[in-house]
Amino acid sequence: MIILGIETSCDETSASLVGDGHRILSLVTSTQIDFHRIYGGVVPEIASRLHAETIREVTRKALEDASADLEEIDAVAATSGPGLLGSLLVGVSFANALALSLRKPCMAINHLEAHIYSAFMEFSEIEPPVVALLVSGGHTAIVFMEDFGRYRMMGSTLDDAAGEAFDKIAFFLGLGYPGGPAIEKAALKGNRTAFEFPRAMLRHKRLYDFSFSGLKTSVINKVRSLAESPELLPEKVKLDVAASFQEAVCDALVAKTIASAEESGVKRVVLTGGVAANLRLREKLGEACEKKEIRLFTPSMKLCGDNAAMIAGLAFYKRHQALEFIDDVSSVKPI
Ligand code: KG4
Ligand code: ZN
Repeated sequence: MIILGIETSCDETSASLVGDGHRILSLVTSTQIDFHRIYGGVVPEIASRLHAETIREVTRKALEDASADLEEIDAVAATSGPGLLGSLLVGVSFANALALSLRKPCMAINHLEAHIYSAFMEFSEIEPPVVALLVSGGHTAIVFMEDFGRYRMMGSTLDDAAGEAFDKIAFFLGLGYPGGPAIEKAALKGNRTAFEFPRAMLRHKRLYDFSFSGLKTSVINKVRSLAESPELLPEKVKLDVAASFQEAVCDALVAKTIASAEESGVKRVVLTGGVAANLRLREKLGEACEKKEIRLFTPSMKLCGDNAAMIAGLAFYKRHQALEFIDDVSSVKPI
């Protein structure tokens, strides 16, 4: 079964053809980073207009890369949420129109569920239950996946997403956009114990929720106490601020993920989302998991960021289950 997946929830226009839920026949992703860079973040109006401009070409390229014709597609699937409304509408409308013209089913896929499913596409040995840490520019959440289709949100951010915090602090320090890779690069040359920034809500009663706004304020206040403006901060201090900030974000993410896995008695953790590219986060979570004899699964980078392959992959799983159910029901003979 070949499914065409479409992903337009934020600032990536992506199309992918996936066979039987795990064979990625093609994956084409057009990023809008260059258009949002000067604003230091994603501008929703610009994002939806760019999706509308590029979706046809991205899909055409995905078909070409897979050497497939539209007629070979068994179903179309699109991200229906969560995400920016205008951006989602472009992908959903495009997928619907295409499916209608092909007389094929069109499926709505949850973006967060698809992020978790990406680990199942790459690692054949993984099986539920798992605890997933989803960290990107748009969301930061810990999800307990008891089984396919059975999820419990254990915690999420009360303010900024982790990636958003990286982006805002990098913008403030003048390190560039997107902020995650910029901070990570600066942090490599900085001292991560130079400043003691807060690790919010580690002992709070909402133990598994995150908050990054206090950390952001603390970084900004510290910089303002050291220099009249971030541009006047000595380079070495800037690197130390970046390293100490990154350490604080990683500590909060790791501590809460491990606590969630322990509470749910789960020995498998999935790390995914754009921030999963951060090597310090991978290292710290890897070490913490090892100590607790928990297995960590981190999908490859092309599947960690926003992509349409995970959408087509999850759609296959859902369609397959629905078809099996129909088979079961139709084999029931009336008494
Ligand atoms: O999942 P993703 O590609 O898309 C959206 O959320 O739209 O994640 C993008 C986010 C950005 O906030 C970016 O700064 C962050 O992931 N990011 C990183 C790194 N690479 C990307 N954060 C920390 N370290 C990185 N190496
Ligand atoms: Zn995402």
